[in-house]
Amino acid sequence: MKITVIQGPNLNMLGIREQGVYGSIKLDDIHAQMEQIAKQNNIEVEFFQSNLEGEIVDKIQECLGDSDGIVINPAAYTHTSIAIRDAIAAVSLPAIEVHLSNIHQREEFRHKSLIAPVCAGQILGMGPYGYHLAMIGMIQILNEVAAIKKARTEAQK
Ligand code: DQA
Repeated sequence: MKITVIQGPNLNMLGIREQGVYGSIKLDDIHAQMEQIAKQNNIEVEFFQSNLEGEIVDKIQECLGDSDGIVINPAAYTHTSIAIRDAIAAVSLPAIEVHLSNIHQREEFRHKSLIAPVCAGQILGMGPYGYHLAMIGMIQILNEVAAIKKARTEAQK
């Protein structure tokens, strides 16, 4: 089983950007922690970061037939991108939306997520630990999907 982790604009600047909001951890360190959880659960994980909306849409489309689930922090595109929302809906894969900060405690324009309605769940305000929770949540979803598929195949025998 494979999970694709997609990181939106400016998340490559973690550790440098607005440390009071996002903390001092770098994106590579977050990914190293996620990789560990994946390994412990025999799951393959791929990491992708882009500052460009179209590249994120392309990556989501590539997940079709390649990945079983998506963990995504769409960053600023959370609040603006119908294209990213439509791409997630199009591939019909379970997705979990992550935000380091609690977007509801921040400026009003951050309160609305266009992405959340097409996601299985949303984790926010937990800092880097939110990504850890997202991995655990996604592994749980994938195990449930696999169990349902297995039960269906056995019922057809
Ligand atoms: C963010 C929240 C967004 O509003 C912001 O544009 C980001 C990061 C977060 O992880 O808290 O870039 O997605």
